[in-house]
Amino acid sequence: MRYKIFSVFLLLSHFSVTFSNVMNTSYFELFYGKDFYDLKIDYPLYESSKLLVDPHFDVSLLTMMFLDGYKDESTLTDVLGKKTIVNAFLTRGDYNVIIVNWDKIASGNYIFTAMPNSKKFGGVLADAILEMTENGFNLTSLHIVGHSLGSQLAGFLGQSIIKKSEGKRKLRRITGLDPAFPIFYPGWLMGHISEKDAELVDVIHTDGWTYGTPFRTGTVDFWVNGGILEQPGCPERGKLFSCDDMCAHMRSVMFFAESAQRKNEKPFMAQKCDSWNKFKNGQCEEGFIFMGINCPENATGDYYLQTNEISPFSLGLEGLKYNKSKSNSKVDAGTFTTVLLVINFWHKGIFSV
Ligand SMILES: *[C@@H]1O[C@H](CO)[C@@H](O)[C@H](O)[C@H]1NC(C)=O
Ligand SMILES: *[C@@H]1O[C@H](CO)[C@@H](O)[C@H](O)[C@H]1NC(C)=O
Ligand SMILES: *[C@@H]1O[C@H](CO)[C@@H](O)[C@H](O)[C@H]1NC(C)=O
Ligand SMILES: *[C@@H]1O[C@H](CO)[C@@H](O)[C@H](O)[C@H]1NC(C)=O
Repeated sequence: MRYKIFSVFLLLSHFSVTFSNVMNTSYFELFYGKDFYDLKIDYPLYESSKLLVDPHFDVSLLTMMFLDGYKDESTLTDVLGKKTIVNAFLTRGDYNVIIVNWDKIASGNYIFTAMPNSKKFGGVLADAILEMTENGFNLTSLHIVGHSLGSQLAGFLGQSIIKKSEGKRKLRRITGLDPAFPIFYPGWLMGHISEKDAELVDVIHTDGWTYGTPFRTGTVDFWVNGGILEQPGCPERGKLFSCDDMCAHMRSVMFFAESAQRKNEKPFMAQKCDSWNKFKNGQCEEGFIFMGINCPENATGDYYLQTNEISPFSLGLEGLKYNKSKSNSKVDAGTFTTVLLVINFWHKGIFSV
């Protein structure tokens, strides 16, 4: 019975979500100071082209646009992710650094509000970016980075750009940081981020089967420390959405930010492999590629690596040789947490519609 109620609500939610005024509640935040808390200026989406003439926006640079994830009232890790990414890119000096603030619609009920909103908002954001492109913005210079639900939004954005431009335009790159898993996979309901959404879709997996997807979902997928096991250095999970519970999911953001940092000494190197077990046994293809900001444009397939348990996380070449004492010995609670998570969303879904 509950399954039926659930499915009907899921279908209805596609049509009943209030999405009015979204252009006015979501905005670009352009960061141009020393760090996250220093200087920024906001531009509503309907004035996206004004960004291009802002003296702090340099059209000749690359632009990193970060889309963050779902906002549960109890999520404290939210600012941590934004801050880490922004600070890493500000140290470089060769990027315009923008956060798309969609807090107002990335919150509320996950299944009935935030999820369908991510799909609709992908279209709204595509309009704003295409409008910028009409006004001289170089779309090729844009690098979209999404975390969790923001990765799914990035995928919808990529799909919308292609559709709205009738196939004439496509994003150059989307980096998906532990793309949101619950309900998005296997993708029957509304699809999910995929290799078709940009020329390069590089995905970093750190919390598969829980908050992040355990499935290959990009042109190239990096499975860090296995990608579906507990991450080294993360504590016991604790309460849903607590910092401890989000630790593994947030690691994807920490890794990517570290790779982008100017002062990063050791790059993240990863090896192409069929599985984590084969990686552990040293049965991988020769050679390696970089994970993170320097991921090559032509990379495809599944890659594996090991990291340190504390920052700085990258081990360089050492990360290619499995070292048992560096892996997390705790039994993975992931699958069980997923069940709890879905029940939690579902419960809220039924009683708060
Ligand atoms: C958003 O705000 C602008 C300026 O206040 C207004 O002109 C516009 O109609 C608003 N758009 C929506 C969709 O409410
Ligand atoms: C657009 O940006 C890309 C990537 O930075 C660059 O290779 C290309 O030359 C730029 N195109 C123009 C017209 O500036
Ligand atoms: C990717 O391109 C680089 C050169 O840019 C080349 O050395 C490498 O072999 C290519 N890799 C694949 C898998 O095609
Ligand atoms: C494996 O990791 C441990 C703990 O970090 C370290 O002490 C040890 O030297 C490493 N072993 C090898 C062979 O690198």
